[in-house]
Amino acid sequence: MGLPGAGKGTQAMAICEDLGIPHVATGDMYRAAKSSGTELGDQVKPYLDAGRLVPDDLTIALVRDRLGQSDARKGFLLDGFPRTLPQAEALASMLDGMGKPLTHVLYLEVREEELLSRLTGRRVCPNCGASFHVAFNPPTREGLCDRCGGTLVQRSDDTPEAVGVRLRENLERTKTLADFYEDRGLLRRIDGEQPIATVYASIREALNGGER
Ligand code: AP5
Ligand code: MG
Ligand code: ZN
Repeated sequence: MGLPGAGKGTQAMAICEDLGIPHVATGDMYRAAKSSGTELGDQVKPYLDAGRLVPDDLTIALVRDRLGQSDARKGFLLDGFPRTLPQAEALASMLDGMGKPLTHVLYLEVREEELLSRLTGRRVCPNCGASFHVAFNPPTREGLCDRCGGTLVQRSDDTPEAVGVRLRENLERTKTLADFYEDRGLLRRIDGEQPIATVYASIREALNGGER
């Protein structure tokens, strides 16, 4: 978990490649639905474009369906879910049903001032979902994805207006969820303002049961 631009996708992609587990990112799934023009995509488009949270019932159903797929049996990493208490409660009951308790909640902490420049300078690969940054994490070849060679684009919700809405939508909820998981002894706070490779090393340490 972490605010918009905290580095969830960047780190999640590396962790999942390392551990060989699926990366379950609700934002990526919604963007895929939107670009393939499915009924769900049409339903969620106004929320995504404006930067507002999609209603809980849709998001919970999306995740329940995804975790029911066979590749999730060996474990998975959730990115951007849960974001609300009803989502956290629904997740707990899904995991109970699967006999798979949550092992770690990684919270990437980044100050609000830093997030704006991360988001406005971000470039993403619509093909494989990788994120880059024009200054902080530039691709080797300008405008092209290092992983798959796809052409990088800006996300439609990385405009200053939508970024403002996203931060407002998530600030309080993120704190509430951090408390929720802290109370359950699962939260691992990670300093998300370090360089990408250092954040990754901190995450590996937390996953290996290192200091909290
Ligand atoms: P989602 O796609 O999850 O967007 P988000 O939460 O706003 O987060 P981002 O993906 O923007 O940021 P990130 O933390 O992944 O950062 P990244 O690694 O790219 O959700 C989109 C929308 O879908 C929501 O607004 C909502 O409408 C809907 N939605 C999704 N989940 C939902 C849910 N559970 N409930 C309801 N609605 C939901 O990094 C950002 C930039 O910073 C990049 O340019 C990167 O290169 C750079 N960077 C990363 N790490 C560092 C570092 N350590 N130092 C410097 N730069 C860095
Ligand atoms: Mg992301
Ligand atoms: Zn790519």
